[in-house]
Amino acid sequence: MESCQLILIAFLFLRSLSYADYSNGDRGSMCTAGKDNSTWNNAVQHNLNSVFNALELNVNLHNGFYTDTAGEKSDKIFGLIQCRGDVSASNCANCTRESFKLAAEHCDRSKSATIWQKWCFLQYSNQSFFGVWEKSAMATYDDTDVDDPFVASKGLAMMGTLVSGTPKEPLMFAVSELDVGRSGKRYGMAQCTRDLSRSDCGKCLDYLLTSFGTTTGHKREWEAYGLGCSMWYSNYRFYFNFSTPKNAGLGSPLNAAQGRWTGRFEVGIMTLITMAFLMFL
Ligand SMILES: *[C@@H]1O[C@H](CO)[C@@H](O)[C@H](O)[C@H]1NC(C)=O
Ligand SMILES: *[C@@H]1O[C@H](CO)[C@@H](O)[C@H](O)[C@H]1NC(C)=O
Ligand SMILES: *[C@@H]1O[C@H](CO)[C@@H](O)[C@H](O)[C@H]1NC(C)=O
Ligand SMILES: *[C@@H]1O[C@H](CO)[C@@H](O)[C@H](O)[C@H]1NC(C)=O
Repeated sequence: MESCQLILIAFLFLRSLSYADYSNGDRGSMCTAGKDNSTWNNAVQHNLNSVFNALELNVNLHNGFYTDTAGEKSDKIFGLIQCRGDVSASNCANCTRESFKLAAEHCDRSKSATIWQKWCFLQYSNQSFFGVWEKSAMATYDDTDVDDPFVASKGLAMMGTLVSGTPKEPLMFAVSELDVGRSGKRYGMAQCTRDLSRSDCGKCLDYLLTSFGTTTGHKREWEAYGLGCSMWYSNYRFYFNFSTPKNAGLGSPLNAAQGRWTGRFEVGIMTLITMAFLMFL
């Protein structure tokens, strides 16, 4: 519970976003309040640099996920990087470097920071957090972009299927596609950080969906991020073509729920971006 409290005294930095494009985006950051000069020293800085170097060097050698530690006792730093499963090695490397820049920008001298981008997730701390799932969730969506209720309920059901299927995938990453007839298609994606157990992965995704299902569930596009997992949903095929690496083993592909809809198609105007953040102990 100590580490939860550490995160509660944190500040958030969220940015406006665009969903429907093949580009990366800054989704927010969270740091411990302490820009603490009394405990920040050259050793901590050195260890953080060392962790960053190791993450950047290794993330693409391990299918887009790596953890590293450096230092001892009070100066020790734990770091984790994970790229979204469909992102290329060069985009993953670039996103990783971008995370370090964002950390320096928003979380300077913080011994604990989390940086969410669309394409990658960076977390580091002076306390061990590997394999620990913490209840936390953030969602981004456009309040005005409301979908047809029938399509929305099918979409939400598809995301429910992803929540139960993703933990069973080799890399705990999965996408899903739903055909809604004249309304086009809906696409979903879910991913857990690979330090989590499969059962915590399921809990993490389930928590995101139950926290935000009622607010995001009737929107045409949304994203939800937590510590340990993320989900994306859109009427646009927002992900890249990808193949599961051979050395990761193969899981059975998820069955997307099939839906058919014949109704009036309404175009939502993306004007207002609403973001919500929930944290519980
Ligand atoms: C913390 O250290 C930095 C760099 O040495 C310095 O610029 C800043 O003024 C210090 N802040 C406080 C509150 O002492
Ligand atoms: C991490 O750093 C914070 C701020 O300096 C400190 O209060 C806390 O005790 C440290 N935790 C560990 C495990 O060293
Ligand atoms: C790397 O990322 C930055 C920030 O997202 C972007 O501006 C730049 O174009 C990217 N570079 C490459 C080579 O993808
Ligand atoms: C993915 O593959 C399909 C079929 O080969 C192609 O039409 C589409 O443009 C590709 N999308 C991306 C983002 O590369």
